[in-house]
Amino acid sequence: MNYTRFITAASAARKPSAIRVMTEILGKSSKSVLSLATGAPNPNTFPFKTAVITTDNGETIQFDEEMMKRALQYSQSAGLPELLSWLKQLQVKLHNPPTIHYPPSQGQMDMCVTCGSQEGLCKVFEMIVNPGDNILVNEPIYSGTIHAVQPLGCNMINISSDEHGIIPDSLREILSRWKPEDSKNPEKNTPKFLYTVPNGNNPAGNSLTTNRKKEIYELARKYDFLIIEDDPYYFMQFNKPWAPTFLSMDIDGRVIRADSFSKVLSSGLRIGFITGPKPLIERIVLHIQVSTMHPSTFAQLLVSQLLYQWGEEGFLAHVDRVIDFYRKQRDALLAAADKWLSGLAEWHVPTAGMFLWVKIKGLHDVRKLIEEKAFKKEAFQGLAQLIKESL
Ligand SMILES: Cc1ncc(COP(=O)(O)O)c(C=O)c1O
Repeated sequence: MNYTRFITAASAARKPSAIRVMTEILGKSSKSVLSLATGAPNPNTFPFKTAVITTDNGETIQFDEEMMKRALQYSQSAGLPELLSWLKQLQVKLHNPPTIHYPPSQGQMDMCVTCGSQEGLCKVFEMIVNPGDNILVNEPIYSGTIHAVQPLGCNMINISSDEHGIIPDSLREILSRWKPEDSKNPEKNTPKFLYTVPNGNNPAGNSLTTNRKKEIYELARKYDFLIIEDDPYYFMQFNKPWAPTFLSMDIDGRVIRADSFSKVLSSGLRIGFITGPKPLIERIVLHIQVSTMHPSTFAQLLVSQLLYQWGEEGFLAHVDRVIDFYRKQRDALLAAADKWLSGLAEWHVPTAGMFLWVKIKGLHDVRKLIEEKAFKKEAFQGLAQLIKESL
């Protein structure tokens, strides 16, 4: 892979921040080292001393004074080393990416922790997109992505999708505007990446099938574009075994995967993680160095302590409980939709996530109906009446 062709001039120009490099070194040095090099404050002056956090099984996570000092201090930009190593093991177990043992320059799998996956994604987009670039998306697209990408001035090319996600033939047809070798010629402006939410897509609720993923990956190889796999609903798949990810198929090192703990541990702690080829993850970390510097050390330590207490098995058992909860929610929503909207609307049964995408028959734009009228009525029962009145 020639990664330089995907990177903007601004991203290519990023250099390691001297202060942040020093924080890395300090993180690895013994406690006896006193640094006079960075602006690290003395945590003895901070007002917070200890904390005990109780989890739902009655166990506790203790922040004694030493731990609290660390939690309140600056930390490494790529994420706390112990959290990163736990997450790396998880990724290897769940996705077994072919790139794990590749040489770094050839796309070896690397990771960084971000303030939710949204921060990571935003940095991915800023690393890649120049004004006028073509990028591939499937409609309806997650609004967080639209608003992150639109200001960068690129052309979003929409690929049709159905209940099983992106339709490979639709992608093939769009790509036929170019020849595979055009990716070597910058003037041809071939698409730089495909952005997709493969499970329980926000807001359409659809999930990509394994066969489609394989077809799409082959097209990515043929036309040499990256795949941005935004997968916050991965841990909310209702059926086992979970679908193989693009990361698990990534023999070239062309997949950037965004994971999130927002839906299963906490959305407010803001912990997500990006996995992808080292040359690109390095660019993202350089951006983090000069923006957020790192996700909250306190939040990372809290999550890390929990994950080490639970182990992988405990984490996945918790995920199963979350899935059970949302499966019941989905079933209740489907039962209500069946009861009140049959004949008036259509929908597909989501296999992951928290979204039910309802299309009202005969009404193209339902905004007015929802924003002006539906709020005053009671949920589905009222909605059914309103749809009838609006037709
Ligand atoms: C598709 C998608 N991507 C990204 C995000 C952002 O998640 P996070 O809280 O990890 O930043 C969301 C949140 O709802 C989402 O639905």
